[in-house]
Amino acid sequence: MTEPTSPRQPWLRLPLRQSITARLVLMSAASALFIFALAGIVLYTVLKGELLRHERDGLFTTLNDISYQISRAGNTERWGRVQLKLATLSQADQHVSFWIDSKDARFTYGDLTHLRSTQVADDGKSVGRLHLPGRQYPVHIMSRTLPAFEERPEVQVTVGVDGAPYFEMRRTFLLATTVFSLLGIVLAVISSYWIARAGLAPLRRMSARAQNFTPRKLSARMPVESLPQELSVLAEAFNGALGRIQEAYTQLEAFNADVAHELRTPLANLIGETQVALARERSAGEFKGVLQSNLEELDRIRSIVNDMLFLARSDQGEAATARVPARLADEVQKTVDFFEFVLDDASMIITVAGDTEASAMMETALFKRALTNLIQNAIQHSPVGALIRIDISNQEETVRVAVTNPGAPIDEQHLPRLFDRFYRVDSARQDINGSHGHGLGLAIVKAVARMHGGRAFAYSHGGYNSIGFTIARD
Ligand SMILES: Nc1ncnc2c1ncn2[C@@H]1O[C@H](COP(=O)(O)OP(=O)(O)OP(=O)(O)O)[C@@H](O)[C@H]1O
Ligand SMILES: [Mg+2]
Repeated sequence: MTEPTSPRQPWLRLPLRQSITARLVLMSAASALFIFALAGIVLYTVLKGELLRHERDGLFTTLNDISYQISRAGNTERWGRVQLKLATLSQADQHVSFWIDSKDARFTYGDLTHLRSTQVADDGKSVGRLHLPGRQYPVHIMSRTLPAFEERPEVQVTVGVDGAPYFEMRRTFLLATTVFSLLGIVLAVISSYWIARAGLAPLRRMSARAQNFTPRKLSARMPVESLPQELSVLAEAFNGALGRIQEAYTQLEAFNADVAHELRTPLANLIGETQVALARERSAGEFKGVLQSNLEELDRIRSIVNDMLFLARSDQGEAATARVPARLADEVQKTVDFFEFVLDDASMIITVAGDTEASAMMETALFKRALTNLIQNAIQHSPVGALIRIDISNQEETVRVAVTNPGAPIDEQHLPRLFDRFYRVDSARQDINGSHGHGLGLAIVKAVARMHGGRAFAYSHGGYNSIGFTIARD
């Protein structure tokens, strides 16, 4: 197998990933380079075009001027004056040269060796190049043919301008542009570095503040008002997350305290009873009695630990995976049958009503466990001889089971908390067996509902308490 390759170069990836400042500096350097390069190319092209035009105009004017005089020079005497004039012009301006070529050696001018070996369009418009020995840059030339006049045969007149000043000018411009661009890029890098640092200062302050948050200071919050708009959104989200963590942390701490508290009583009982039993000689029968009583306490501890393990697994997102299609009324009836003797003892009756055909995908053992907890509670909190009702109903995407029993109303403030772990409305109250529950029954109902894609609910109205849960139909 091959590693997936990243499009970015590794040497670039590290600083870019680690620093926003590096990113900004690199981006502004790249954009400065682009802008300067573009501006440089455009200016250079314009300058080059202008220089060429200027050169061509100069050549054209000079060629026109001398052509007029040459066209009138029809004999050697006049030709001599022309030659003198051309020599004076060349002397006055070192960059200008003249060549005149003709079949008659008398009517020529200048060193024609290199001109004759050069292809020149003699249309009086085009600019050609003539490479002369000992010169770094070519000479730009323009030629024209003048018809024969009197003694003089047809002549080809050529004017040349040294290209050196133009090439030098272009080179200087290119150099200046490059130096200026590099300077501009360096300035862009320095300024963007400072801008990035100044822009990121609130972020640095924010992270310095975040470093101070510890589990002991969970109530501390990020000050949102002093931050720029973009960061205040982040700070608000951060504060929201802190709030949720604080809540969870507080719950966890309370839960730990509750666990310790719940286990302390049975453990203290076990130790106490064992110490008393060992205090003096006892018969085998007495020891048996003590062990029997200890077994009950141990059973109680085991049931708490089992319930907690179940809740922990559900907290970790475990879902009811072994779900099978089942009719609710059947599962409810099986659970109720289990309570036959308890109900007889308390002279209570349970009726099952509602949509007896409703069915859902469920893990039946979990469903029965939740319903058992609800029925146990209903029995515990009903007066002797009460009628307990179990309602099954079909809802849009869920099915609903509610266990309703007559009893003392549950105060509004307790209703949403009934499903919290170890929460008991009246922790001192004992059930009909003389013991009190440990407050995990309804937490398990809620966990089972959640594992089936449903939720738990509780109502207290008109002397009846109705507690139940929903599960997703499929
Ligand atoms: N049917 C009900 N009528 C009145 N109060 C109820 C009813 N069901 C539950 N409660 C209240 O909700 C609390 C929480 O119930 P839950 O079943 O979670 O705990 P428990 O019954 O005290 O202990 P456990 O079920 O773990 O043995 C109970 O202590 C009780 O105060
Ligand atoms: Mg209970």
